[in-house]
Amino acid sequence: MHAHVAIDGPVAGGKTTVARLLARELGYLYLDTGAMYRAVAVMGLRYGVELDSERAVLEVVREHAVHVELDTHGDRGYRVFAGGLELGEELFAREVAAVVSVVAAHPAVRDELTQRQREIAALGPVVMAGRDIGTIVLPDAPVKIFLTASVEARVQRRFEEYSRQGNPPDLAHLRAQIEERDRIDRSRAVAPLRVAEGAVVIDSSDLTPEAVVQMIHARVRAVAAVR
Ligand code: DC
Repeated sequence: MHAHVAIDGPVAGGKTTVARLLARELGYLYLDTGAMYRAVAVMGLRYGVELDSERAVLEVVREHAVHVELDTHGDRGYRVFAGGLELGEELFAREVAAVVSVVAAHPAVRDELTQRQREIAALGPVVMAGRDIGTIVLPDAPVKIFLTASVEARVQRRFEEYSRQGNPPDLAHLRAQIEERDRIDRSRAVAPLRVAEGAVVIDSSDLTPEAVVQMIHARVRAVAAVR
């Protein structure tokens, strides 16, 4: 078992930024599993499939194989392909954010992606971010983190992110969308978002990403010392 770091938490809790910085610092692989679910949502929207239908979405996953390549040189740390084509910024579009929780609630879709995530973890130690990494994907990971923040902090972060893309959203609408995604992620029947056994809970509302990275890094060192 590699010395994986599993980072789970709600929408816009800071997982991606922290996981990427931490992976760089540790020299580990890095994978944002949310991007894989987003890729499925992009393809579902592109082909106009019924997103509520597990069978239809699974067909999309199988026909347009979602595939992730690790890319230690690029900024993002990985590249996502679907049906042989690379997906870029469209993964983070608002239309995708609006439907991705629905797509991610289908058990058969989760099975497919979980399998691929474990294949990547078999390549070497990885910092993997998502919703079910510490509970389902890598339950034996020696370091598990549940990274959260107040709704206000999370809304503010997402607002700034979209504004930087030149597309500032309506704040009330953004808040409603984040709360709705949280609700779906927490209440779905399979692999719901919850704190994994043995996870350290970190509230990042008033912390910089660097401070969070240092807290997790300290945990990695402490666990390595007793392994
Ligand atoms: O972290 P994110 O916002 O990019 O995730 C996008 C969606 O994918 C989110 O609504 C929940 C889902 N997801 C999941 O169900 N399991 C994961 N391991 C990662 C993401």
